[in-house]
Amino acid sequence: MNSSRPEDIQICTKAEVPFNEFFTLLNEIGKLPPVPLENRVNIEQYGHKIYNFADIYFVKLGGHFAGLAAIYMNDQVNFQAYLTLIGILTPFQGMGLGKCLLAHGIEEARKKGMKSIQLEVHPTNFRAIQLYESFGLSKNGSKGEFFLMGGTIQ
Ligand SMILES: CC(C)(COP(=O)(O)OP(=O)(O)OC[C@H]1O[C@@H](n2cnc3c(N)ncnc32)[C@H](O)[C@@H]1OP(=O)(O)O)[C@@H](O)C(=O)NCCC(=O)NCCS
Repeated sequence: MNSSRPEDIQICTKAEVPFNEFFTLLNEIGKLPPVPLENRVNIEQYGHKIYNFADIYFVKLGGHFAGLAAIYMNDQVNFQAYLTLIGILTPFQGMGLGKCLLAHGIEEARKKGMKSIQLEVHPTNFRAIQLYESFGLSKNGSKGEFFLMGGTIQ
């Protein structure tokens, strides 16, 4: 696994990324195996929804968009953040960017007062499950054919 040099990694928020650039990246991320998002949601509707309501973090490597994570951080009742999407484009996978992005997103959620984080993952998505487990998240239920995973982020 090639790890990327921290000085080459840049994380930015949706305030710095116009919708059309976000949407181009989202369409590429929507095709990623093993469980393509585009098979499950209408990417255009989903894109507008997360761009409007979620916090989105983009990771760039050497100035190129490599991936994004979208997290809802607006639950003022249970203070539970919800990772709705994380994806790193195939050429950039396995370089530590997913881990970097998730660490950043969880830290931002914590700063916004979130106490836990929840997500859905397909049971065959071993790489993602391993990533989430490395952050101390664990399976806490299921929804249809998906696993629910979560954990505290305090
Ligand atoms: C899951 C995903 C976000 C991980 O991002 P990434 O940048 O490739 O992963 P990283 O290089 O940061 O590695 C983080 C951890 O993922 C796991 N991982 C990464 N590459 C792996 C591989 N080839 N095999 C097994 N586990 C792997 C490891 O646990 C790794 O931690 P480690 O380096 O301490 O062993 C990325 O592979 C992806 O976008 N996949 C397609 C979309 C997707 O499945 N999203 C999640 C939907 S729930």
